[in-house]
Amino acid sequence: MSQECLDVLLKRRSVKAVDMKAPGPSEDQLDVILQAASRVPDHGKVVPFYFMVIGGEHRQVAGDKVAEIFQKQNPDAPSDKIEVERNRFNRAPCVVAVIYRQRRGKYPVWEQALTAGAVCQNMLIAAHAQGLVGQWLSEWYAYDDDMRSFLDLDERDVVAGFMHLGSPPDEKPQERERPDLGEIVTYWSPDAPVKKGDLYDRPKFPFPRLGFKPL
Ligand SMILES: Cc1cc2nc3c(=O)[nH]c(=O)nc-3n(C[C@H](O)[C@H](O)[C@H](O)COP(=O)(O)O)c2cc1C
Repeated sequence: MSQECLDVLLKRRSVKAVDMKAPGPSEDQLDVILQAASRVPDHGKVVPFYFMVIGGEHRQVAGDKVAEIFQKQNPDAPSDKIEVERNRFNRAPCVVAVIYRQRRGKYPVWEQALTAGAVCQNMLIAAHAQGLVGQWLSEWYAYDDDMRSFLDLDERDVVAGFMHLGSPPDEKPQERERPDLGEIVTYWSPDAPVKKGDLYDRPKFPFPRLGFKPL
């Protein structure tokens, strides 16, 4: 058993992009992250994902576009709010957009979407295992049509995540509440009542807010 490996899984926490420090992943570290991310279970080997690494000064180009779209949609927005949008891609030293691309064929798109989720999670784990930190974000602009065109996405593509990567802050993030296994695990038998996590069945804000339907 590799305790180190288990520790990464059991103790990993996301770090808010805004709290991340420079430097981001080195070229070698990023290569490991992308290798690990693409090594995922994939029914049919259809590779339903691709990556866009948004680093260096290109982060500002992407952020300027987010600000432009935000301003167009919110003409009365105060300048400080627009600056928040402009800085979206500057919070972390490196952002990797993981794009889920549905492949045509007999393999269910739901399963392809699960593969894309596994890609994102592997990315977080590979970052953490190298002493880096990550945060998986979508935010409103992942679902925005203008931003999607800017990133050259078509109807097959969905932003699975803008994966923010950087160095850890001085303070460790606090632990957050985790699922209570007593609420969601059933050792099944024909007459055991199944625990379906009803505790977690609470109303949520509708999201995505802008009407984009990924499936
Ligand atoms: C698909 C997906 C999209 C997310 N988008 C956002 C987001 O837009 N904004 C946000 O604050 N958190 C978002 N999160 C949650 C963050 O990744 C959050 O940091 C994470 O759930 C913290 O849990 P962890 O410490 O176990 O990684 C998203 C998570 C997932 C899986």
